[in-house]
Order: sequence, then structure tokens, then C-alpha cells
Amino acid sequence: MKMEILLFILIQTLLLLIPSRFYVAANDRQQQQQKGTYIIQMDSSNKPAVFEDHVNWYDSSLRSVSDSADMFYTYTNVVHGFSASLSDKEAELLKKQPGVVSVIPEIRYELHTTRTPDFLGLMEKRPSTISVLPSPDKVGDVVIGVLDTGVWPEIRSYDDSGLDPVPRSWKGECEVGKNFNSSSCNRKLIGATFFSKGYERKTGRLINQEVESKSPRDDQGHGTHTSSTAAGSAVADAGFFGYATGTARGMASAARVAVYKVCWLGGCFGSDILAAVDKAIEDGVHVLSMSFGGGSHDYYYDNVAIAAFAATARGILVSASAGNNGPHSGILSNVAPWITTVGAGTLDRDFPAYVKLGNGKTYKGVSLYGEKPLSDTVLVPIISAYNASNSTDGNLCLAGTLIPEKVAGKIVICDRGRSQKVLKGLVVKDAGGVGMILTSDEESYGEEQVAYPHFLPTSSVRLEKGNEIKNYADHEASPTATIIQGGTKLGVEPSPTVAAFSSRGPNLVTPEILKPDIIAPGVNILAGWTGAVGPSGLSLDQRRVSFNIISGTSMSCPHVSGLAALLKAAHPEWSPAAIRSALMTTAYSTYKNGETIEDVVTESAATPFDFGAGHVDPVAALDPGLVYDATVEDYTRFLCASNYTSDQIKTVTKRDFTCNKRNKSSVRDLNYPSFSVPFEKASRRLTYRRTLTNVGDPATYKVSVSKVDAVKILVKPTALTFKQANEKQTYTVTFVGRRLAWNTLRSGRLEWSDGKHIVGSNVAFRWT
Ligand SMILES: *[C@@H]1O[C@H](CO)[C@@H](O)[C@H](O)[C@H]1NC(C)=O
Ligand SMILES: *[C@@H]1O[C@H](CO)[C@@H](O)[C@H](O)[C@H]1NC(C)=O
Ligand SMILES: *[C@@H]1O[C@H](CO)[C@@H](O)[C@H](O)[C@H]1NC(C)=O
Ligand SMILES: *[C@@H]1O[C@H](CO)[C@@H](O)[C@H](O)[C@H]1NC(C)=O
Ligand SMILES: *[C@@H]1O[C@H](CO)[C@@H](O)[C@H](O)[C@H]1NC(C)=O
Repeated sequence: MKMEILLFILIQTLLLLIPSRFYVAANDRQQQQQKGTYIIQMDSSNKPAVFEDHVNWYDSSLRSVSDSADMFYTYTNVVHGFSASLSDKEAELLKKQPGVVSVIPEIRYELHTTRTPDFLGLMEKRPSTISVLPSPDKVGDVVIGVLDTGVWPEIRSYDDSGLDPVPRSWKGECEVGKNFNSSSCNRKLIGATFFSKGYERKTGRLINQEVESKSPRDDQGHGTHTSSTAAGSAVADAGFFGYATGTARGMASAARVAVYKVCWLGGCFGSDILAAVDKAIEDGVHVLSMSFGGGSHDYYYDNVAIAAFAATARGILVSASAGNNGPHSGILSNVAPWITTVGAGTLDRDFPAYVKLGNGKTYKGVSLYGEKPLSDTVLVPIISAYNASNSTDGNLCLAGTLIPEKVAGKIVICDRGRSQKVLKGLVVKDAGGVGMILTSDEESYGEEQVAYPHFLPTSSVRLEKGNEIKNYADHEASPTATIIQGGTKLGVEPSPTVAAFSSRGPNLVTPEILKPDIIAPGVNILAGWTGAVGPSGLSLDQRRVSFNIISGTSMSCPHVSGLAALLKAAHPEWSPAAIRSALMTTAYSTYKNGETIEDVVTESAATPFDFGAGHVDPVAALDPGLVYDATVEDYTRFLCASNYTSDQIKTVTKRDFTCNKRNKSSVRDLNYPSFSVPFEKASRRLTYRRTLTNVGDPATYKVSVSKVDAVKILVKPTALTFKQANEKQTYTVTFVGRRLAWNTLRSGRLEWSDGKHIVGSNVAFRWT
């Protein structure tokens, strides 16, 4: 039988030598352009005996539909299968081949900073946290895998002083490539690999090494920022042009980092992501951090959801960013119920820049301008950009639209949009302006919270303040102003608030599962940066920094990844679901004064659709009392309840599973730590079943529920007694809703308490 295969290969090889093949090749190339990358999953337990190994079998299946396509990755851990470039027709044919479970297109994912590098954040541990954290040697056993743009290993965040040798169980490596060799890794950065085959297939050419390094080297900054946020070593005297100075440290500063470079200038491609997770599982990571997304998809179609399922099944917690589509509702990434989906909140830190007008009025905005400021007392003329331009979009301060004679020596008011904010400042500066006031539009309402590393004195202000300032500048005889840089302000209240950009629910893939799961700091975050580009990410930015302040759910995700690593160190036996449950049931949704966390956009109470379980509280999470655990079987039953076909279930789970038709569970019964309740005309009485596992001392927990207008909440039983550790108890909760208008939202809360712990679940109601 082996002969057959040899013969087959021989014939293939010979065919390549026949001249007529070359005619075909030109045609092929044309077709090649219409080809796309597909992930092909095979029924690995049913490999025909004629094939010596799986790769031979995969190859033969591929050959049966295309003689030119090649398998550029084969996967073993994450899925059973491979990826290949195929035409739509070939993909259709391949689906019908025996043993093929699914053929799904690769998805392109994008990093979750709103653009290359200008958001911000913070990463100080609260003093109260430090005392209760697991010891550094325990944390040193935990490896956080970061899928991102790579790493700039020379910054101090990767200093490995004082760390124990690399854990013996670690199987990863340091992959050599452009500007990266084995000495780039150490006891902190214990793994670094890159995955570019899918990217190169997609672009149809090899990576241009003049522009980006075909190695784990980070040319963009994003991956250095996220990985140092999760697990960077403590760095004294860090800061950014005098802002946010102090000790910078990752959330799990003693944990190890392994970077998997899957994001390139052209995006992050599904076939590369699957290959990276395949390797991360093999290498032995404990947490995976992914700060990118590609929209909402059914789980069997979403490359990341499939990869995350395999990781979760191996006990790896997957933390991913919710996306930056806020404040619009219902546009979320990474909503699979086995992923920890992280939204973003603000810190109690701000970088104010005050606009003082000639009429005596002062307006607060924000900025990260770090060079010579304007005088606080000597006011200079101010002009609206549209009065200093002859262009129809003169308000936007686009390159070449400002008239230098009108701008020279003045502060210029520019509207947001069309070009990067930092670039607008450069346009003003080049035209002779001395300062800039950046105003928001309706679309970006609230976004002025996010500070940028400007090239000249700047203040970004909210829409209504911008309108007042314009009104003054446009109608006063000789309007004047100055911008006073306020430095770094701490203790800002209220904090946290939900960031304007943070993606919000409802979850349109499974409305019964609340997403995002949790929020964490994602606005104006200080962390490590690449030496390859300046803090603005613009090629003309000559500045170089080893720390940068940027924002996005990209930044909040690695906070949770790092905190999950601390929980893993403290409780190595906990499953990913248990760790997530601890983070969620101990998160807070109110300030100390009892008011609900605000949405920065509305400046009023946010809802669980915005913040999920609330804001992460790592100290409380270390001792949650009870957890809502979940296993691969639970997630598989959830897919049955989602009415997926057996092939769709197998595409996600890699296993054969027969859904129990007679005792079909509901998606409401997935053992999730929060509740989302979609009331429909026909079903305004919905019952959810949950099981709690005791991870504390024996205790009796009693339930309490909040009063919710138009909803009755019935919990059975109302007390649960746990006599020993790991004991499980089940309860049901029924929500009965009155008839309310379409898209009405309400929030509620259900808490179990033994007097010492509060195991809290937020409930989001929506009438659909
Ligand atoms: C590895 O890189 C370091 C720093 O870039 C350099 O000093 C060293 O010579 C390199 N080693 C090899 C074997 O290329
Ligand atoms: C607009 O202003 C620019 C800069 O002063 C000038 O070069 C250009 O000719 C003007 N265009 C028109 C249509 O006036
Ligand atoms: C600036 O433009 C606005 C809007 O077109 C106009 O109302 C105002 O009079 C102008 N002001 C000056 C000083 O040109
Ligand atoms: C699955 O199908 C059943 C029966 O048609 C239906 O009641 C249920 O709502 C469906 N579930 C989902 C998640 O679509
Ligand atoms: C139905 O399945 C659930 C778990 O999903 C189980 O707890 C219950 O006992 C089953 N009921 C019957 C009648 O088999």
C-alpha cells in the first residue's frame, strides 16, 4: 500500500517536469489570485488504513481537488487538519470528500487599539493587592502566551533578574530571525516564535524585511505593550515624557512570557493564529492573551473561537479583547462562552490640559504633550481651522489645507476625523501654529478621555466644550487663549468609568450569554514600547521611547491575562472557567458610595451590557468562596443547545458528540457566572439553571436579588449548604418579565453570601 503513495508522489513529481505544466502555471497564477485560505478539519479517528500518517492522508484529500494547492500548516493540537489556499470551487469539492469535517475560510483579525499606537493606560498594582498575592516563585511557574506583534526584548520590562530558571515543563523556544536570536530570550521572555505563512499567502508575496522583521521582533509596539502589561518585570522610574512616572510593572510581574507573533502590518490571519495556538498548547502555556478580533461569527466559523476551545480543553485560560466599537451597542468580538472577553475602563489617573480663553473661561481637556509648554499667563490669538483654510474640509486640519499667514503664532481649533490626531498637530505646527485644540464630534463622544503624544501644546476637549470655544474664537473681535499642561493628575473621580470605545453588548451570537465578561483598565495605559517606531506610530515620528501610553481593549485584555496568571499560581488546580468565575463574581459594579459605575459617554450609570460582571478586583478574586465551573462537556452541550449540526460541533470541539435529543439542554443552562435575559413576546418567563462549586470552607450561602422594575426574580432554593470543599449545589432562577417596549433594557443582580464572601452575578434584561 505504501507503494501506491510513493507512486503517486513520483507521478506528481514527474508531472512537474513535463513542459506543458508550465503553460498551465501561468493560468494557475491568475487563479491563485482568487484563491483564499481555508482551514480544513479532518475526522482524525477515521483515517483510512492505507495512509501511513495523517499528513499523507490530508495531502491526498487535498490532491483530489487541486493539484497545485499545498498544505502550508498542519495542525495537531488545536484542530485535526491543515490550511491551504483554495478557490471557492475547490473548497466546495473538498467539503464533500470522505473524512472532511469542515472547510472554513480564514478570517482576518485586527488589533484592538483604535489605530497603531495612540491610546493609553496604567499598570500599577494596588498596595492592598501585593500583600495577598501568591509568592513570586509560584507565579514563576505560570507562563502567559501572548499572540500579538512580537516583542522588543531589550526594554527593562523583560529584565529577568531574580527569576528562577525556566520551568522544566516548558517546551517552547526562541526562534531566530531578523534582529532576533536565541540570546533575545531569557528567564522572563522564555519563548518567542513567529507565524507568517498565512500572511504571506494572503498578500501573495514574502514579507518585505525592510519594513517588518520576519522574526519575533516587534516593529509596531503593540505586542511589547500587551506582553509587558500582562507580565512585565517591575521597572523603577518608568514614565512617558514626564507623565505617569513611577514604577511600571506587569500584573503578574514574576510570571513568564512567551510571545507568538501572528499580527503583521497587514493584520492577523486565522491560519497563523491556529498554528500559534497549536504550538502554544504544545509548549505548555497556562494563559493565552489575544488583543485582536474579527467581528461576531458563529463559533464553528470563527477561527479564534475554535483555537480558544482547544486551549480551554487543555486547561489554558484564553483572555481576549471585546473590541473598540463602542459606544455603539451589539458589535463585540470574541464572544464564545469559553473565552474571557474583556472590555475597557478608565483609571483614576488623568492628563489634563486646560484651555484658558481671553474671556476668562477655562475648559479641561487632555494631552500628552511633553515639550516646552505655552505660557500660562500670556495669551496668544486663537482661530478656528475653517477660518484659516480655503478647503471645504478646512475644519479637519488635513495636510496642505491651512493657510500659513492665517495660522502663524496662533492656537488652531481642529475637528477630529479623517487623519490621525497627532498628525493634525504636525500640520498646525508646520503652518506656523503654536498650539492646537482638538474637538470631538458626535461620533466620538467622550473619546477625549484618551490622551495622545502630541508634537505641540494641545488639548483635546469634548464636543460641547469645543463648540463653546469655537463660538468665542469665531465671534470675538480679537480672541486669545493659552493651553496649560496639567501634568499627571491622580485620584480622578468617578473612576473607573466605561471607556467610550469599549465594545458593548448585547451578544448577538448567543443573546443568553452576557458579553463582555468584565472590564479592566484600558485607557491611557503605560507599558513597554518598541524601539522601531515613535510613540505615535507615525513613520515621521523620530522620537523613541521604551514606555508608551496607549488605549484600547487591547490594553485591558492583558491586564486580565496577568491577573488570571496570578489566580492560576494561587490555585493551580482551577479550570479556566473557575478562574474566570472568580474574576467575575468578585468584580464590582458600583463605587464606594453605592452608585453604579458610569459610562463616560452618558456620564450616567452604565449597564451590564457595557461592563459585564463589572470591574476586575484581583484581591477579592483570590478568595471567591464559590465558583461557577464548566467543562468541555458543558460547552459541548451548549453547542447542542445552539442547534449546531454534528459536523459544526466537531469543527469546534474536535470530538464526536451525540446530542441528547430527548433531554436537550437550553443555552440558558450553560453554567455561566452572569445572566443575560432576552424577553420575547412568547417567552417572558425564562428559567436558568446554575451549579456552584465550593472552593472555600464549609458554609451556608443565602441568596439575595435586587428589585427590578417590571421583572420578578424567583430563586430555588434560597439557601445552599456546602459541607466540604469542592462540593457542588444546583439552583434555578426564573425571571418573569412584564410586557415592555422593544429594546427596553434593565439591570439586576443576584448574590449568594455566607457573610464573608459575596458571589455576585449581574443580570442584563432586554426586551426583544
Ligand atoms: C544576538 O543578538 C545580540 C544582540 O542583538 C548580539 O549581540 C549577538 O551577537 C547576537 N548573536 C548571534 C549569535 O547572532
Ligand atoms: C488655498 O490656499 C492654499 C494655501 O494658501 C493655496 O496654495 C491655494 O492656492 C488656495 N486655493 C484656492 C482655491 O484659493
Ligand atoms: C469663522 O467662520 C464662521 C463660520 O463660517 C463664521 O461664522 C465666523 O464669522 C468666522 N469668523 C471669522 C473671525 O472669520
Ligand atoms: C433550537 O431549536 C429549538 C427547537 O426548534 C428551539 O426551541 C430553540 O430555541 C433553538 N435554540 C437556539 C439557540 O436557536
Ligand atoms: C438532563 O440533563 C441534565 C444535564 O444537562 C441532567 O442534570 C438531568 O438529570 C437530565 N435529565 C434526565 C431526565 O435525564
